[in-house]
Amino acid sequence: MALLEATGVVAGYGAAEILRGVSVTVEEGEVVTIIGPNGCGKSTLMKTLAGLVRVRAGSVRFEDADISAYPPERIVRAGLCYVPQSNNVFPSMSIRENLEMGGFIRAGGVAERIDEMFSLFPDLGRRPSLKAGSLSGGQRQMLAIARALMLDPALLLLDEPSAGLSPAVMDMVFERIRGINESGVSLLLVEQNAREALGMSDRGYILVSGENRLEDKGQALLDNPEVGRLYLGG
Ligand SMILES: Nc1ncnc2c1ncn2[C@@H]1O[C@H](COP(=O)(O)OP(=O)(O)O)[C@@H](O)[C@H]1O
Ligand SMILES: [Mg+2]
Repeated sequence: MALLEATGVVAGYGAAEILRGVSVTVEEGEVVTIIGPNGCGKSTLMKTLAGLVRVRAGSVRFEDADISAYPPERIVRAGLCYVPQSNNVFPSMSIRENLEMGGFIRAGGVAERIDEMFSLFPDLGRRPSLKAGSLSGGQRQMLAIARALMLDPALLLLDEPSAGLSPAVMDMVFERIRGINESGVSLLLVEQNAREALGMSDRGYILVSGENRLEDKGQALLDNPEVGRLYLGG
């Protein structure tokens, strides 16, 4: 059984139907990347999986439950955590306070989990009292991811974690993401830096106009000349 199985998901905003029957699966242990043109509905899909946008038709199964109608906090508690593309940390709070907020629904072990996050992300551990708002783009992204990891999710949804980062920082972020996956967390990413993301993904999906266009192994998508021409900038 798949860890996450979204089937024929329809969702949108008011009269605007954005997702027109999208299906995505993540198996336990996988890294899966979704790419597609701007505005095709990638972020909407992430928000829908996280329970922030309502599933109008179709279904979302996570582990052994139908979570299609769960409110966001219940989805988080079930082990599915979402890191939005922006505004994903509390800028006026310190690094440590952000992590405490991330862990507030933990039964216990918050301090221990924060220590684990500091060994996973040494940059954050060096100055835990620093305000999140003063961090560089890459560090801020690390903090947002660490905040989500405070709850030991089985599946992490990351919406464009490398957006706006320099190539060197982007490599660092992807390296960390790989490490998170190796620690046992399954990952569903949305990425504009499609080559790098597909290169580290087990599988990928191409979404166009709120519909599935193509689905294959990450490397197979990279090797597909049509994908290269249309979606990877030649
Ligand atoms: N809160 C919203 N209200 C209304 N329309 C929205 C909202 N968020 C996104 N949209 C629209 O939904 C479509 C898909 O957006 P989005 O999911 O953000 O695409 P992507 O992440 O693939 O670039 C776009 O046409 C966008 O303008
Ligand atoms: Mg987006």
